[in-house]
Amino acid sequence: MPERGERGEVVVSMRGIVKRFPGVVANDQVDFEVRAGEIHALLGENGAGKTTLMNILYGLYSPDEGEIYIRDKRVTISSPRDAIELGIGMVHQHFMLVYPHTVAENIVLGLSSADFFFPLREVRGKITEFSERYGLKVDPEAKIWQLSAGEQQRVEIIKALYRGADVLILDEPTSMLAPGEIEELFTTLRRMAEEGRAIVFITHKLDEVMAISDCVTVLRRGKAVATVEKSRTNKQHLTRMMVGREVLFRLRRKPVEEGQIVLEVKGLHALNDKGLPALKDLSFIVREGEILGVAGVAGNGQRELVEVITGLRQATEGQVVLLGENITNCSPGEIIGRGVAHIPEERIRMGLVPGMSVAENLILKAYRRSPCSQRLFLNHTFIDQHAERLISEYEIATPSKDAPAKLLSGGNIQKLILARETSEEPVLIVAAHPTYGLDVGATERIRQLLLEQSKRGAAILLVSEDLEEIMTISDRIAVMFEGRVVGIVDTAGAEVEEIGSMMVGAGKEQERGRS
Ligand SMILES: Nc1ncnc2c1ncn2[C@@H]1O[C@H](COP(=O)(O)OP(=O)(O)OP(=O)(O)O)[C@@H](O)[C@H]1O
Ligand SMILES: [Mg+2]
Repeated sequence: MPERGERGEVVVSMRGIVKRFPGVVANDQVDFEVRAGEIHALLGENGAGKTTLMNILYGLYSPDEGEIYIRDKRVTISSPRDAIELGIGMVHQHFMLVYPHTVAENIVLGLSSADFFFPLREVRGKITEFSERYGLKVDPEAKIWQLSAGEQQRVEIIKALYRGADVLILDEPTSMLAPGEIEELFTTLRRMAEEGRAIVFITHKLDEVMAISDCVTVLRRGKAVATVEKSRTNKQHLTRMMVGREVLFRLRRKPVEEGQIVLEVKGLHALNDKGLPALKDLSFIVREGEILGVAGVAGNGQRELVEVITGLRQATEGQVVLLGENITNCSPGEIIGRGVAHIPEERIRMGLVPGMSVAENLILKAYRRSPCSQRLFLNHTFIDQHAERLISEYEIATPSKDAPAKLLSGGNIQKLILARETSEEPVLIVAAHPTYGLDVGATERIRQLLLEQSKRGAAILLVSEDLEEIMTISDRIAVMFEGRVVGIVDTAGAEVEEIGSMMVGAGKEQERGRS
């Protein structure tokens, strides 16, 4: 195991790192230094180059230019094995564990064969030691598939520690954790830093930077903008460095005129995947040009509601009426055909064909109709122009229209879906968690796009767990609890506390405001 460094000693120094991908410079002359005993946040918008920089340090990519020094010694890191030998560990955003195996087996897997035949009893002992020392609760005998995301993450951390990591890189480690688990993770990280390990914490969330880091390096479009002590900065300052401009969340606009009713949901009932009642007698309306926010703690029927409206789930009772016509239990294709756009929760799985190009993904819904296709042939000129136009209009950062969509960063995938879904001027947009996982710049852009759509006259149903988001852009707020709408309030004059208490079931069972 590499020896533990003195607190403050520079353990990692990356100098002048350049990494180019077709059409994009992911890292552009980046200098990055990490000291022993510190938690170093690596902050940047979607696509800023954070993961790329750390993949280079972990030996997954080799840089086109630049040098890496570990404790003042120049090194070449050509594989994760090299990185591990130098004491560098990385926990990826998508875990790399083997599902049918146990925790203990996963931890020794990939070690040299001598270690692999190490008595499992000793392995277990060591796992228990790490878990106690760092508060990483996990059962060595459990199978990976039985574990929650939080537990799997702990296994990944123990795995890195087991291999002797004294520099631990975590790529957006909180994105799949529950709030309680985030606190536990932070405690673990602090303990590791106190022992002199260096932690690199990739994130685009400012609250997390302020909560956990000692210092922060900001990347913007592949360039390192600055490294600052946490105590010498604040959220506003960091935002400005990250986005390159001020971000204003004051997006709300004047009250909408009383428009035509676009969506009416009447006495709706539906079951969840387990066959239990998920929607219980739901009723509300959304008017032309209006954004109705649906607030609620996850799992109170929001997902089922979105699925019923978009035709992905059967209603067992009640009606969904679009512009006066009953569309209850119509097929998704038919509902799309009537001008309903859907921004799905699971964007990569449902919103995209990852292997197809950006241009192809942009016409997924329209390809059967002219002008995209004439008789049996796709009209490539039109498709190309259409793609170029949407890419620039929606500011989608992509190397080209022909790049596979899966190469885009999270925020840009979301913009792509939004571009496709809204470019045909839908009458109703059903948006599920549209800014989940996005950085402030992308979030603001997406919210603006939704506002633009509502100004054009689209009715928008905005489902979000982010109360701030709902308060920022919706006209009225429907609060869901246990499959019911427990209240509908006008956003103007609504109090966060009031909505918060309705979200946990303490609300009044009556509707307020116009509805
Ligand atoms: N294997 C790859 N091939 C081609 N382009 C890539 C590859 N990996 C990343 N890129 C591009 O490099 C740029 C930086 O991507 P990177 O994943 O490092 O960003 P990030 O800061 O981690 O973003 P996010 O917050 O969305 O995870 C992006 O434009 C991305 O599309
Ligand atoms: Mg990333």
